[in-house]
Amino acid sequence: MTRVIRFGIIGCGLMGRELASAAARWLHLTDAKARPEIVAVCDTNESLMDWFSTHLPSVRQKTTDYRELLANPDVDAVYCAVPHVLHAELYPAILAAGKHLFGEKPFGMDAAQSATIAGAIKARPDLLVRCSSEMPFYPGAQKVVDFIRKGHVGPVLEVEAAFLHSSDINPDKPINWKRMVGVNGDYGCMGDLGMHVLHVPLRLGWRPESVTASLVKRVTTRPDGKGNRVPCETWDNATITGTVRDPAGDFPLVLKTWRIAPGEANTWSIKVLGMNGSAFFTTKSPRQWQFMRYEPGGTQCWQTEDLGFAGLFPTITGGIFEFGFTDAIQQMWAAFVDELAGGDAKGFPCATPSEAADHHAVLTAALQAGITNSTVAVQYQGQA
Ligand SMILES: NC(=O)c1ccc[n+]([C@@H]2O[C@H](COP(=O)([O-])OP(=O)(O)OC[C@H]3O[C@@H](n4cnc5c(N)ncnc54)[C@H](O)[C@@H]3O)[C@@H](O)[C@H]2O)c1
Repeated sequence: MTRVIRFGIIGCGLMGRELASAAARWLHLTDAKARPEIVAVCDTNESLMDWFSTHLPSVRQKTTDYRELLANPDVDAVYCAVPHVLHAELYPAILAAGKHLFGEKPFGMDAAQSATIAGAIKARPDLLVRCSSEMPFYPGAQKVVDFIRKGHVGPVLEVEAAFLHSSDINPDKPINWKRMVGVNGDYGCMGDLGMHVLHVPLRLGWRPESVTASLVKRVTTRPDGKGNRVPCETWDNATITGTVRDPAGDFPLVLKTWRIAPGEANTWSIKVLGMNGSAFFTTKSPRQWQFMRYEPGGTQCWQTEDLGFAGLFPTITGGIFEFGFTDAIQQMWAAFVDELAGGDAKGFPCATPSEAADHHAVLTAALQAGITNSTVAVQYQGQA
């Protein structure tokens, strides 16, 4: 019989619902070692929890106080999706209660909060902790990762990773917590989207030694929903250029976290250009990836391959069909659950605490670089 891992969800908003839906269709996966069961939910907004109890008969606890959920002995693991300012309070509390943690990015809204969370993780090596970042679970993204791991790229020329949104181009879009410095943090768009663009580069060992950053602020006030306009202080767009040291030649790592990229809706992409091979994937063309193999004097020809539905974790879906966001969420969660059940996440675990800490180091340096218009060295954890 498939092992059951009992989950509590703290934060029943946009992402809490996504994860619950992925759990509800676990039958989609054909060889999962274990399955998650949502037994408890928590949100300070009571009305949001009804959707969970209506659709998930397994939910036996609803509470507005996360401490009550953490005191529940029936909860083995917690998925936590709350505003950034709360991560440093809730993540350590979840671990102190002895629950495994699948936490939403960015693991705290600044470097100090990231360090607090890292300390709590260090104190509980018996618990599994992973950070949410689903886009690398697209089959095309996995193809790019595989291409690089197999050494097809050769000396790297440039790597560019981007996450692009456009809804903030509307100056009349009401403000929410993601555009408030006090709740989202000084990183602004970088805190929201930074883990998404850094997950694959960090996984491949591409840690920039130093960064420059162009930070863009265009919409300075937004409606508050009560008839007033209030300050909107978070950065709209950031383009970070890091320098990665490499024995084959240093190369630039370009990271774009844009909330105002005209016409783009949740577009995640990764492009790697090298002397021997190049590869590209964008969620705009979810069933395809592009690659080029090059030999000196040979033709330079990009090839496009249709991949269809080919997640890391096998499913009932036919290979001719198309992969999407909700599938990436389920594949990511399958990776977490697989590790909890003793597996290796098929060689691609969710973002790790050290990757989350490294991404904070990059964002902290990028914020300073952007504000001071200078090149800033990245101080990774454990470095003087
Ligand atoms: N992986 C992704 O693609 C992705 C996408 C969007 C957001 N996120 C991340 O998910 C997290 C939440 O974002 P969201 O978009 O779901 O936000 P949201 O505002 O839709 O949901 C957050 C929920 O937390 C609840 N909450 C606030 N304080 C609480 C508390 N003390 N106890 C319990 N619940 C509380 C709110 O009432 C709200 O329902 C953030 O860390 C964000 O960066 C990830």
